[in-house]
Amino acid sequence: MNSFKNKQQGSALTNLVGGIAILGISVFLLAKLANSGYSADVDLVTENATATRIMPAGNLKLGDGAEPGQRTGKQVFDKVCFQCHAADSSTAFSPKMTHNADWAPRIAKGLDTLFNSALHGFTGQGNMPAKGGATDLTDDEVKRAVVYMANNSGGSFPEPVAGGAASAPASASGAAVAGQAEPEKNTEVAAADDGQAKANFEKSCQACHAANSAIPNAPKLGNKDDWAPRIAQGKDTLFKHAIEGFTGAKGGVMPPKGGSALSDDEVKAVVTYMANQAGAKF
Ligand code: HEC
Ligand code: HEC
Repeated sequence: MNSFKNKQQGSALTNLVGGIAILGISVFLLAKLANSGYSADVDLVTENATATRIMPAGNLKLGDGAEPGQRTGKQVFDKVCFQCHAADSSTAFSPKMTHNADWAPRIAKGLDTLFNSALHGFTGQGNMPAKGGATDLTDDEVKRAVVYMANNSGGSFPEPVAGGAASAPASASGAAVAGQAEPEKNTEVAAADDGQAKANFEKSCQACHAANSAIPNAPKLGNKDDWAPRIAQGKDTLFKHAIEGFTGAKGGVMPPKGGSALSDDEVKAVVTYMANQAGAKF
């Protein structure tokens, strides 16, 4: 330091340079001090990020912080079931949440049947994959999601407790039937009508109105885009057109009663069935 000082002595610039050098060293040391804590945080974050990256796919998909097995019906619905069961889902034939007419015939089957369909899959006109395809869900989680959907769509099943004992859903389904005497009577009638209408549809209308029909301009079953403008005409107009026959602006041909020997009331029931499959609430 002495020889350095001697060599450069007398220069005002030297003091300035020395000052800057000291300041520079201080800043460097301070930065290093601060940095040491900071780099430890980075390591921690990186560790978590790596753990997340190597997590089994199911956990990652549901990455909602809830322990596997403890997810609520709403959490499961929001992550998995909504894809096909959301109120505005475009999946054909799936009962949409809050569409009570979609759900009434399902609810009438009873909770155990619905649990079974959701757990192991169900194919009616559409295809419900086992556990909605999310095989990492526990059975109880799927059951909670079923109850969540049904109860937001006119059902009144008791809510299974998140993380509850395995036996809870069994007793819950018993309670549901007991607690549901009044609405169940109505849904059973609806289900019976719906079943008859469905059978008549398959016999007399499906040839032109099936979901995959190639008949030009015929509104396809479950296709909301096809049906929205039809439904907007109101049900009396649709009943009339189905009974008397109809040719719209694009020149399709709907024959009177589809060429069938159904009674007027039977045709009306089928129209109701078809429209409701596409989101109407007739
Ligand atoms: C990939 C689409 C898809 C996903 C995801 C999905 N579902 Fe479904 N689900 C359907 C379809 C389509 C139907 C109607 C099947 C039919 O009636 O032909 C259905 C029907 C159902 C039914 C009625 C079964 C019956 O017996 O009438 C229940 C209950 C149900 N789903 C529960 C669930 C639950 C719970 C989840 C989430 C864990 C879920 N679904 C996820 C497509 C899906
Ligand atoms: C031979 C084919 C065919 C059969 C069978 C058939 N339909 Fe149609 N239907 C059509 C076509 C095509 C249209 C569209 C007509 C258009 O808009 O030009 C249509 C339209 C309709 C509409 C909508 C009318 C409107 O005002 O928009 C209803 C409702 C309907 N059909 C009900 C039925 C019912 C119920 C049955 C069975 C009892 C049935 N159809 C059988 C071909 C058929």
